[in-house]
Amino acid sequence: ELAQRIDRPIVLVGMMGVGKSSVGKRLASLLDCAFVDADEEIERSAQMTIPEIFDTFGEPYFRDGERRVIARLMSESIEHLGGRIVIATGGGAFCNPETRALILDKAITVWLDSEIDTLVERTARKDNRPLLRQGDARETLTRLREERRPHYSQAPIHVLSGSGPHVQTINKVLQGVS
Ligand code: S3P
Repeated sequence: ELAQRIDRPIVLVGMMGVGKSSVGKRLASLLDCAFVDADEEIERSAQMTIPEIFDTFGEPYFRDGERRVIARLMSESIEHLGGRIVIATGGGAFCNPETRALILDKAITVWLDSEIDTLVERTARKDNRPLLRQGDARETLTRLREERRPHYSQAPIHVLSGSGPHVQTINKVLQGVS
C-alpha cells in the first residue's frame, strides 16, 4: 500500500490560497504521516504572527527564518520520522534557491496550482497575508504567480486544484506520488 511506502517528505509548494495546508493535512492523515505547516512553525518559533514578523522585522528577516525553519523541518523529519511527513510551505519559500535545492533533493515535491479566480477567492477569506495588504489582490497574485512559475514548475509533480472541494485535488496528488 502507498501509505507504507512513503519514506521521504512530501512537500507542497505553490501560491497563497491554493490550498496547501488543507490538502496537506488531509493527505497526511490518509498516508498516516505527520503534517506540518511551515508558516505555523515560523510563527511558533518566533512567538509572533506572520503579519507581525513582516511589520516588525521586514520581509528579508521573514525569508531568512522561513529558510531555516524549512531546513530544520526537513532534517528532523528525515532523521526522526523516516521522512514520513507532509510539509505545506508558504508561497514564497520555494523561490529561495537553497530551500528549493534542498526540497528537490530530499523530498517529493508537488506544485499545487489554481486559476487566479480561485486564488483571489480563497485568499480573500483571511486577512493574514502581508503581501496582499497593499494594492489589488488579483494583480498581485497574477504577478507573483507569473514570477514564481519558473521555480514552481521545477517540481516533478504538478496538480491543478479546481475551485471545488479539495478531495479531487487530494486524489490527484495521491496519483502523482504513487
Ligand atoms: C507568502 C505566502 C504565505 C506566507 C507569507 C508570504 C508568499 O503563505 O508565507 O504571507 O510570499 O507567497 P501561504 O502560501 O500559506 O499563504
